[in-house]
Amino acid sequence: MQIADFALERYFARWEFAVRHVLCASDAEPIALSDLLALADDDSRRRWETLHLGYTESLGLPALRAEIARLYPGLTPDDVITFAGAEEGVFLSMQALVGPGDHAVVAWPAYQSLHEVARSAGAEITLVPLDPRDWSLDVDAVAAAMRPNTKVIVVNSPHSPTGAQLSPEQLHRLNSIAELHGAFLFSDEVYRFLEHSAAELSPAASCSPRAISLGVMSKAFGLAGIRIGWLALRDATLRARVASLKDYTTICNSAPSEILALMALRAKDALLGRTRKIISDNLSLLDLFFARNADRFSWVRPRASSVGFPKLLGGDVDEFAARLVEREGVLILPASRFGYPGNYFRLGFGRRDMPEALGKMERFALERFAADS
Ligand SMILES: Cc1ncc(COP(=O)(O)O)c(C=O)c1O
Repeated sequence: MQIADFALERYFARWEFAVRHVLCASDAEPIALSDLLALADDDSRRRWETLHLGYTESLGLPALRAEIARLYPGLTPDDVITFAGAEEGVFLSMQALVGPGDHAVVAWPAYQSLHEVARSAGAEITLVPLDPRDWSLDVDAVAAAMRPNTKVIVVNSPHSPTGAQLSPEQLHRLNSIAELHGAFLFSDEVYRFLEHSAAELSPAASCSPRAISLGVMSKAFGLAGIRIGWLALRDATLRARVASLKDYTTICNSAPSEILALMALRAKDALLGRTRKIISDNLSLLDLFFARNADRFSWVRPRASSVGFPKLLGGDVDEFAARLVEREGVLILPASRFGYPGNYFRLGFGRRDMPEALGKMERFALERFAADS
């Protein structure tokens, strides 16, 4: 298997734990273990206190799969497989869906694994660019890209890095296109529950038997460190294939993580309320920031998720990012890490230190622009 380096993750591996502020983080403010335990219901607390640390059930703890299934109208716990984060779900799905001679259509820019894993499995990839004016997906372009050997259409909504969200009509059309071609729709929904100006979209797996929904505890729940993600899908053959591939990666989940995920899902309202408050406070500050700095930065205000994709209006964003991290300890993620052209960069607004980090970036940008003029 020839797989390219994951440019975004290599960048994070270099910088994430070496800087003061990760102003491009996609996950929400992580929650402390003690705070999560304080939210536990009686059943999950008992499970935690009496937990045995043996192997766990390969598809996931039945109570956890049942709790996840409740997020997908019309689905049952049998339709859910859990993994070590969303990333394992992406990796195994793509291995199961495509091989040499197959084709995949992927909305772009995208989290690299959403196209690179299929490419490395031998598939040809057509990237369908989002429209930079509003980061919308042209569903007609997806339809036009379909071929007889297309096995999967890949979308991500809410979207990283842009914060765009598909409309219900677009999702419906994408499902119809996949069904018509005997393909699957792989819908990365890891930023679900972080809608601000958009209404929550129904999960794809609830809308079509040919759709696969990807979910995770990392983003809205602030629990990236427990590494629990899942696929929700109704196709039993594909599920069996993915399940048997998991024998070659993690075999089963971390036992403590499963209980923590169960606890968090049962305390969903409290945890999501906490994240949404941080995001809405940060977005208000960002509105003021972009108004104040209209000659230095522009952005399409995200409609959902914890990330956006602003543009630097002068200089070179890779160079700007390199100097910013060096001088201020503030990390942004240039578009080049998505293999995407232009002076864009990913900015995250799910973290409590965003105001301080933004202040440092603003000061730095003011000095840079003054020096250049
Ligand atoms: C769009 C998208 N999909 C999948 C993932 C992987 O999620 P996890 O790190 O929880 O496995 C990420 C992580 O940043 C992401 O942004």
